[in-house]
Amino acid sequence: MDRVLVTGGAGFIGSNFVHHLVRETDAVVTVLDKLTYAASRDSLAGLPEDRVSLVVGDIVDAACVDPLVARHDLVVHFAAESHNDNSLSDPSPFIQTNVVGTFTLLEAARRHGTRFHHVSTDEVYGDLELDDPERFTEATPYNPSSPYSASKAGSDHLVRAWVRSFGVRATISNCSNNYGPWQHVEKFIPRQITNVIDAGRPKIYGAGLNVRDWIHADDHSSAVWAIAQRGRTGETYLIGADGERNNLEVVGMILAHFGRPTDDFDQVTDRAGHDLRYAIDSSKLREELGWSPRYGDFKAGLEDTIEWYVAHQDWWRGDKARTEAAYAAQGQ
Ligand code: NAD
Ligand code: DAU
Repeated sequence: MDRVLVTGGAGFIGSNFVHHLVRETDAVVTVLDKLTYAASRDSLAGLPEDRVSLVVGDIVDAACVDPLVARHDLVVHFAAESHNDNSLSDPSPFIQTNVVGTFTLLEAARRHGTRFHHVSTDEVYGDLELDDPERFTEATPYNPSSPYSASKAGSDHLVRAWVRSFGVRATISNCSNNYGPWQHVEKFIPRQITNVIDAGRPKIYGAGLNVRDWIHADDHSSAVWAIAQRGRTGETYLIGADGERNNLEVVGMILAHFGRPTDDFDQVTDRAGHDLRYAIDSSKLREELGWSPRYGDFKAGLEDTIEWYVAHQDWWRGDKARTEAAYAAQGQ
């Protein structure tokens, strides 16, 4: 039996991962989460109490982290400040949680010999030109653009150093943009879906030609579990599902779903330092661990996600007005 500590398990991808573990494995899960604005207890509602428990705590707090890491077989580390726009307004919590928090967990994993999987992002590699035939691989040099991606790059470097210098049994994954249920309405896809549900208009930063490589959060979860189970210590695996779309295309698909004209959106102030394109080559993960995504078709996954937001308005309505007010204050 695996005793798994999931940091950030009340957030978007962490909660999808916990649901995945309950559905697909026998693991017993402890969620460690500070319950920031990005978390929701409701994302874990209905899960069996004998399989999933929640500890409310901060990964920066060694006194909280240490005994938890000691009594688990595996740590899967999702907890982070995750939103680029927030990192531009105030980088400070990003350094604390993403860098100091990861350091705190690594020290505990070192003391107790606990297996550690670090969840990271493709943004550590910077961005690609629209016409670049290359995609990111595990060998791409680090070149982060925002305080968020720089803090995640820093955390990746810490993990590698703790593997090499202290023999911590760790792996790293860098994944592309996730979509799916339980994603906060500050993020691109849920923001636009919920705007349209409320008869408003999607908000596109700048010209909308920026490309993201979309993957369903459940496919991210299955990849993380494959790496945690069968990945080689010290190795990095890129996770992606060949889902490149530009922002205009995604908004057009959302509008079309609701029968609205595909040009019925507002163009708003662009993000400072806005990365142009991300694209993942996940060959290593597919060939070495035999992983493949269940949602091969982005359109089908997006339709499921739209239906989820239509059916779960009680889950997101509490955050919507405050989120939109904050965007409006910065011209977005
Ligand atoms: P999220 O913002 O939805 O959730 C983050 C969770 O971490 C929240 O529940 C929050 O309460 C918790 N948390 C924050 N600070 C904490 C602290 N100091 N102590 C304990 N808990 C804390 O983020 P997400 O989108 O689910 O991302 C999860 C992880 O996946 C992050 O590490 C992120 O960098 C990575 N990632 C995200 C994406 C994406 O598209 N969202 C893609 C690749 C990688
Ligand atoms: O690539 C992985 C990363 O994907 C993760 O590491 C991050 O945690 C996650 O937030 C995501 O980062 P992005 O910055 O790509 O995601 P976001 O949803 O903020 O924006 C996606 C794209 O949509 C980006 O080009 C900015 C644009 N955008 C965003 C919002 C919120 C808009 O055009 N309008 C919007 O209202």
